Amino acid sequence: MDHRLDAFVASLPKAELHLHIEGTLEPELMFRLAARNQVALPYPDVAALRAAYQFTDLQSFLDIYYHSAAVLRTEDDFAELMAAYLEKAIAQGVVRAEIFFDPQTHTARGIPFAVFMEGFDRARSRYAGQISADLIMCFLRHLPEASALATLEAAGPYLDKIVGVGLDSSEVGHPPQEFARVFAEARATGLRTVAHAGEEGPPEYIWGALDVLGVERVDHGVRCLEDGKLVARLATEQTPLTVCPMSNVRLKVVETMAQHPLRQMLEAGLNVSINSDDPAFFGGYIGDNYREAALALQLTEEELAAIAQRSLAQSFETV
Ligand code: HPA
Ligand code: ZN
Repeated sequence: MDHRLDAFVASLPKAELHLHIEGTLEPELMFRLAARNQVALPYPDVAALRAAYQFTDLQSFLDIYYHSAAVLRTEDDFAELMAAYLEKAIAQGVVRAEIFFDPQTHTARGIPFAVFMEGFDRARSRYAGQISADLIMCFLRHLPEASALATLEAAGPYLDKIVGVGLDSSEVGHPPQEFARVFAEARATGLRTVAHAGEEGPPEYIWGALDVLGVERVDHGVRCLEDGKLVARLATEQTPLTVCPMSNVRLKVVETMAQHPLRQMLEAGLNVSINSDDPAFFGGYIGDNYREAALALQLTEEELAAIAQRSLAQSFETV
């Protein structure tokens, strides 16, 4: 622990732009909701559950992540989940959050849009004076585009509460091109667009996200460094890249934090921010990601401040 560094990071006003609300479900809340909703968990207690968070790749995480969402059933559950995240974000200096949610994970279990949207919204209103928060609806790329199109349709009555759409879940084998239509429709509706690309997938998926989906930000994007032409383009266009250092280490996108490409990305003049992805599963919230990256990559206070400032500029709304 480095309290001085933590205090400095917390003092920087910042935006969190890559955060899955389902990925903020802490084991303690998971067990409380499981008991309340009489949902059986495959682990006897919090310690056993945390011990299972040993991931080998993205899919090994997603398998546990999707199962854990089964405890979320009522409007109160979604409100509690959102409130718990917002409190932590506020404490770590987040003034603006653009928060991913995965509607298909919930609608597939028979939970209607009204339940999670009203729950999220209730929590968001409660903290409105302390943090500006908006929602980004992500499509699950392991499901067909038809399911994404149906989801966009079902979101119709709630579009005033959704700032944009994104694309997440199992990346390799599910290139952006498969979702060209639903992104075009979303854009025509006035929604902003982002997509996960270049986390486990190759640089071609980043090209696809930019040129086929027309996204305004790339989530992760760390594999761009394998393609010099792509790096030049991202640098010229200053495309925002929402990097999640602790996630990349825990999902073995990189071996160690010291080998994380964030330093090279900064040196290449790329527009990167630091975010937490799924903090309840990866061991840290946004401030922890700033600290761990700073310690391993020797980022200076000036560099950290520039990253925080950049995150605010990357966001879809100025606060
Ligand atoms: N990648 C893809 N899908 C996800 C992630 C991620 O890092 N986190 C939650 N869903
Ligand atoms: Zn993510």
